[in-house]
Amino acid sequence: MNALASKLSPSITNMIRVDHTHVLSNFHQYDPEASDGTRQALVNQICLALEIHAQLEEEIFYPAMRAVAGNNEVLNKSAPEHDQMRQLIGRLRDMTPADLTYDSTFMDLMRDVMHHVADEETVLLPEAERLLADRLNELGAQMTKRRLQLAAPHTGEIAMNTMRTMPASSMLVAAGALLAGGYLFKRSRGWHFRQPGSLGHRR
Ligand SMILES: [Fe+2]
Ligand SMILES: [Fe+2]
Repeated sequence: MNALASKLSPSITNMIRVDHTHVLSNFHQYDPEASDGTRQALVNQICLALEIHAQLEEEIFYPAMRAVAGNNEVLNKSAPEHDQMRQLIGRLRDMTPADLTYDSTFMDLMRDVMHHVADEETVLLPEAERLLADRLNELGAQMTKRRLQLAAPHTGEIAMNTMRTMPASSMLVAAGALLAGGYLFKRSRGWHFRQPGSLGHRR
């Protein structure tokens, strides 16, 4: 791999954190009241992202850690936890959103992934930054290259799922930004334009 590209790449630990943040924010978009199509598209998107992330960790991150970390309890249980996650993903794919246990199976997946992510972020990633300090960018570059290979066969599916989940989520984000903007605007007016002596005036 090009040495300069490796040096300029984000570190593997930050890439893993970004993936985690992304999937957790997708979890928060899940609305059991949403239509079957919207829920299914979001679940499909999350499952695919989790599968690619897990494979990247298993092929690149965990082996690099195993070589330097010795007998690390969190590392030892990481791959079996991925397998457990894949079982839940398989069950979700065998169901339809109309299935009575669809939402609860998704919540099981969400809970397991949150525990797994918490272990990685509080134990494995700091450990990697200590033990693999001089390899973090090179491993990040490897991860980017492999991610493109793994995602390539799914680009159509990813675009379709994004389109089907986008309206609700983007409206939510837009509404959130508007509310936050309105609140800040009101605050700024309160701070700068209230008449001296009026209730709550701050100076
Ligand atoms: Fe993992
Ligand atoms: Fe992870």
